Amino acid sequence: MERRNFLGLVGGAAGTAMVSPRAQAQAARAESSDFLWGTAGAAYQVEGGNVASDLWVMEHVEPPLFADPSGDACDVYHRFDEDIAMAAALGFNTHRFGIEWARIEPERGQISHASLAYYRRVLQSCRRHGMKAVVTLSHFTVPRWVAASGGFTDPANVEAFAAHCARVTEAMGELIDVAATFNEPNLATVVRWSGLSEKYRPYIEAAQKAAGMAQNAPAWSSPMLAGERQYDGILAAHAQAIAAMRGAGARFPIGLTLAIPDDRAAGGDDRGLRRKQSEVLDRWLAAPGDFVGIQTYTGGEVGADSDIPPPVGTELTQMGYAFTPNAVEGAIRLVASRTDQPLYVTENGVATEDDRRRIAYIEGAIAGVERCRADGIDLRGYIHWSLLDNWEWVAGYRPKFGLVAVEPKTFRRLPKPSAKFLGAIARRGGLA
Ligand code: BGC
Repeated sequence: MERRNFLGLVGGAAGTAMVSPRAQAQAARAESSDFLWGTAGAAYQVEGGNVASDLWVMEHVEPPLFADPSGDACDVYHRFDEDIAMAAALGFNTHRFGIEWARIEPERGQISHASLAYYRRVLQSCRRHGMKAVVTLSHFTVPRWVAASGGFTDPANVEAFAAHCARVTEAMGELIDVAATFNEPNLATVVRWSGLSEKYRPYIEAAQKAAGMAQNAPAWSSPMLAGERQYDGILAAHAQAIAAMRGAGARFPIGLTLAIPDDRAAGGDDRGLRRKQSEVLDRWLAAPGDFVGIQTYTGGEVGADSDIPPPVGTELTQMGYAFTPNAVEGAIRLVASRTDQPLYVTENGVATEDDRRRIAYIEGAIAGVERCRADGIDLRGYIHWSLLDNWEWVAGYRPKFGLVAVEPKTFRRLPKPSAKFLGAIARRGGLA
């Protein structure tokens, strides 16, 4: 039942008088059991050995752009069942994971039926362990051949993505609960406001060029590193994918997940803030979809044209972000004020070696989530980033986002106290 309806039914003194405490408790239980409490990961960051993906090429050019190669990652490719069982035992009811397009279509038009069967087994494992499955169809990576012909600037790749999404729906759609086409397609705008795009542009362009030379593909462009140049193609691919998935019988909600910082105006002038928020959100919120996935890690002050770095003395995470457990609440309220679509928090978390700070972050974040729900915002889930310490893109293996540590080489999983802490919240359906 939606929170709004739930409050309409039993909220307030009059409502309480009409509904017995038992019925209220039942309604509250039904409502909280519908709420998704989960953890998230991305195929490329955890599976290991995604050699047919574009980033594998980008990882191996000189000079390197990435602090470490992804390599075996967390070997989730072979260990998904034990991970899903572990997450369920911790108390979660939802597992967010990625389906790596390059495994399913390693060369244009060449379909790996073994890989389709593999991801079906992952979804069956979710079912077996009582977990809802939230699937991402492109989490920053694409097959090499997609990058080789210019990423989503090539209309053939836009069509190929839609066909891929339809293929996944046909092969396993009845096991999917929620699907995101693209993960954070708006990230380049957030990064531009931070000033980092300008700083890293020459290195990224050199790496794209080197990858193109290595692959004999002068048009090479990895979407993740292409800045805002592929936005039109990604939006078209998203819209076509939704139509293709519906055509293939998809019954589950389909949407986008978006990078959404929780910002405020610096110095009382909010023109920069308003411009940033509309550049970050508008075109993506106007795209077709059944929900919006909110992904928030931090927030800060925004000046006329760019973010203002956090003041000296601010507690910073391993990513250099201000430690802001309440950021997720601000992001939820921002999106709720701009769309009527249902919302999920599809990522929120903190990179830290100090698990006590992770617990403090989670506690603050969930308190904000609860305030949003109590205010009637149609928020349907909280999915924490991440289950495992994993490969954090350019930063390699240093940042620790996981509730569970992973021993290098043996891949042994070592749950941290924060895993039990958030798992218990998930089991209870809230902080209290
Ligand atoms: C991405 C994840 C990433 C996380 C932490 C999000 O932008 O979707 O892939 O690991 O943030 O930086």
